[in-house]
Amino acid sequence: MTTDEQIRRRPKKKFTLLLSPITVPSHPQQHHRRNYMKYLLLVIATALFLTWMFAGTDVRGESGLSSSRAGQRAKTMNIHHKFSKPNVIRTINNEKDGDSWDSTFVPYNEEDINGEAAIKPSNSSRPFQYIGDMDPTKPQPWPKDEADWWALHEKLVEQVRESDEMLPRHTNDDYLPQLVFYGDSITEGWNGTSFGNTPGPTRMWGAGESSKIRQVFEKHFGESSAWGKRALLPPLILGISGSRTYDFIWRLENGEFPTSRLIAAQTGSDNGSFELKSMERIHIVLIGTNNLGGGMVPDSTIAGIDAAGRKLLQMIQDSSPRSTPAAIVFNELLPRKDDFRAVKMCPPRCKNLTTMEPYTSFMPAIHKVNEALPNLLRGWVNDYPNTRIVLLSSQNDDGNNNSTQKNINSNFDIRIMRCGEEMFAFENEQEFDENMPDRLHPNAKGYEMWARCLKRGLTEIMDNAIELL
Ligand SMILES: *[C@@H]1O[C@H](CO)[C@@H](O)[C@H](O)[C@H]1NC(C)=O
Ligand SMILES: *[C@@H]1O[C@H](CO)[C@@H](O)[C@H](O)[C@H]1NC(C)=O
Ligand SMILES: *[C@@H]1O[C@H](CO)[C@@H](O)[C@H](O)[C@H]1NC(C)=O
Ligand SMILES: *[C@@H]1O[C@H](CO)[C@@H](O)[C@H](O)[C@H]1NC(C)=O
Ligand SMILES: *[C@@H]1O[C@H](CO)[C@@H](O)[C@H](O)[C@H]1NC(C)=O
Ligand SMILES: *[C@@H]1O[C@H](CO)[C@@H](O)[C@H](O)[C@H]1NC(C)=O
Repeated sequence: MTTDEQIRRRPKKKFTLLLSPITVPSHPQQHHRRNYMKYLLLVIATALFLTWMFAGTDVRGESGLSSSRAGQRAKTMNIHHKFSKPNVIRTINNEKDGDSWDSTFVPYNEEDINGEAAIKPSNSSRPFQYIGDMDPTKPQPWPKDEADWWALHEKLVEQVRESDEMLPRHTNDDYLPQLVFYGDSITEGWNGTSFGNTPGPTRMWGAGESSKIRQVFEKHFGESSAWGKRALLPPLILGISGSRTYDFIWRLENGEFPTSRLIAAQTGSDNGSFELKSMERIHIVLIGTNNLGGGMVPDSTIAGIDAAGRKLLQMIQDSSPRSTPAAIVFNELLPRKDDFRAVKMCPPRCKNLTTMEPYTSFMPAIHKVNEALPNLLRGWVNDYPNTRIVLLSSQNDDGNNNSTQKNINSNFDIRIMRCGEEMFAFENEQEFDENMPDRLHPNAKGYEMWARCLKRGLTEIMDNAIELL
């Protein structure tokens, strides 16, 4: 018998005792004492019962008293709580802009039906919010009540403004472009934060993990790194947890895009040819996994990624002289094995809506998106000629370097860097968990792995002119 059951049964026993009738005394004097005891017992039992009910609320949450439901909703409306604690599911809302919270909490497994889930911290860092009906290509910020998202966006806009006001640090031709990291929580994680704060326990980072990760970043890309020492400007980490393609595009349009000129326009090279020495920035992008996580199908996610990449290239083209080449290190979606979130999407995003059979993994969707990327990115290079793109892939380098080698000297194709385990393609589940403890975000060890792949990408962009590894 569990402790919980014992707690539940103890008062019931008292009730059983009391069920024996209080006898009407045939000899009042004689029975008075016994009935007095029964009344006393009744009073004590009532007190015990009430105590059990109220104390039990803390332990059992929703199952205790109905009054906690309103409280729960109020808590859920609190942004920080929403993103760090409860495994509460946002239901499909009927409002077009998707801002409102339904008051109904939909349980997703038996444990939840027993009433445990609403207050129990889970592996889910934020509740499921269905975005499958949104246009992934239409720039749109998060709702105004998402205070943490807005606060971080403002902070990033400020950082971009400060960066744009800095004087580029180069006195000779030895300079390297500024690195701009764009993305969601995985990119924001480079700063050791989520929505600007230390991530909650659901991230499953160890003690001091945040500062370890910042050290990893410093070592590879920071101002004292091999790259940083020669960079025109310090790197920018422009990631916001939960970001999806549509809000990423909005972020670009609303201040999270650096525009300052870092080098004088090269004379005589405005014929649109790609020249390393004219390159001012390299944009490192990872976006789209939260489209899938919000219940968006792969095709829409691909459309969103396409729109995001094209927006970035358009903004580079519009904001710089024709001689300035665009450079993107584009990351495939990282593998994610947080299967419980895939299950949680149903309804409405189910494998079979008739039988309400949920998806049990994101991986088929991730693969579908990643398979579409090479051709998608080729389209970008075709439409924005003075552009170099390196695609970082989690495929293993099986010796087939054909796509890399065939076009290595062409400005009109992308280059693919197959990083395998350095992009988390671990065959071994345990190894995967050692690098991605919550099965979605890297820890310091994982960021260290990924940094190697990113540096391969940077080296490739620079035509192997620099030694990074
Ligand atoms: C969270 O994930 C870890 C590792 O995948 C697992 O060991 C743990 O049981 C999970 N916790 C919950 C509450 O599901
Ligand atoms: C990055 O982390 C540092 C240290 O925690 C913090 O002071 C800073 O505000 C963070 N930057 C952003 C943009 O969140
Ligand atoms: C463009 O200009 C650069 C520098 O002047 C030159 O090296 C290159 O050959 C030119 N490319 C074309 C296609 O004319
Ligand atoms: C969903 O399940 C029902 C009942 O088993 C089946 O008839 C139907 O074909 C399934 N639909 C899909 C899309 O698999
Ligand atoms: C393919 O490229 C990788 C990295 O660029 C290199 O390490 C590997 O040796 C190449 N394989 C072949 C068969 O050329
Ligand atoms: C490389 O490409 C050529 C032509 O596309 C093909 O015949 C060859 O088998 C490929 N090599 C490998 C190792 O896949």
